[in-house]
Amino acid sequence: MTETLPGAAVPNPLDEAAITAAVDLAVAAIAAAATLDELKAVRLAHTGEKSALSLANREIGALPKDQKAAAGKLMGASRGRVNKALADRTVALEAENDARILVEETVDVTAAPRRRRAGARHPLSTLQDRVADIFVGMGWEIAEGPEVESEWFNFDALNFKPDHPARDMQDTFFVEPPEAHLLMRTHTSPVQVRSMLERELPIYVLCPGKVFRTDELDATHTPVFHQFEGLAIDKKLSMADLRGTLEHFARQMFGAEAQIRLRPNYFPFTEPSAELDIWHPGAKGGPSWIEWGGCGMVNANVLRAAGIDPEVYSGFAFGMGIERTLMFRNEVGDMRDMIEGDVRFSEHFGMEI
Ligand code: PHE
Repeated sequence: MTETLPGAAVPNPLDEAAITAAVDLAVAAIAAAATLDELKAVRLAHTGEKSALSLANREIGALPKDQKAAAGKLMGASRGRVNKALADRTVALEAENDARILVEETVDVTAAPRRRRAGARHPLSTLQDRVADIFVGMGWEIAEGPEVESEWFNFDALNFKPDHPARDMQDTFFVEPPEAHLLMRTHTSPVQVRSMLERELPIYVLCPGKVFRTDELDATHTPVFHQFEGLAIDKKLSMADLRGTLEHFARQMFGAEAQIRLRPNYFPFTEPSAELDIWHPGAKGGPSWIEWGGCGMVNANVLRAAGIDPEVYSGFAFGMGIERTLMFRNEVGDMRDMIEGDVRFSEHFGMEI
């Protein structure tokens, strides 16, 4: 006798009623298995080594020869029924499982996506790039200079007299200690002088960059803003070249209809000097001329300070504010919107990269 669980009756492999009862029990348990895991446990209990049917099957070996065939047939058919029930239930449960996964893991391709803000480049940066592109398209180079500048480049070399009011503490951030004669550049014009000292002639450069003045922040002023400076030094350059360059630039920026106007003005570093106005057909209060920047022929004293002979070379220069350009070009009413860094402001201008 094979050892078995205490109290578990081993059915006689010839007792058809007992074997059928064991098979029915197994089939019922198989049908009741609700998951593949449950079915695995049922399979072990009813077909495993210690199951009633396996134990009964083992008894065949001990039977008299003439009874073995009948017992083998009965047991084979019984085990066949159980195995068939197991196989069918496995197929059914696997199908159910697949169907459930399909439903549970469905991706709703029509669902609204969770949005991530991608951010936006600041419109001052994109405008600055556009300006640079226009001049690079004309064959100009981009020049840069330091924001902490020496007083000599910012003022003296540009022909500002020592008592010029712009040197006053009210306009200029000086950097300590005073004997260092350093300041936060008040305009991009010192790059004119640096370019003339550093570059080979002729020179065609555009310098965009930050400038600093001791203005209080309000709707139309900010102590830190941006300018772009243009400088051309060549033989025989005249006011007509300056005008032609600015007109081309204005049309690239504002469209073929754009017009410019030069009004006499004074800057220490240009002579003659002019105020540059642009015709703005879409201005809020109706079409009007808008002051855009300063320009002029480079003063002979400035050429000399940079070691260039004004008898051989002449040059023109111009400078405009980027914030101011953005204000009237895109109707930004308050300068503070440009410096608060709220992405909602930038998004109005598109997501240019
Ligand atoms: N630097 C001048 C300013 O900031 C602008 C300017 C540049 C004028 C070049 C003439 C020539 O106001």
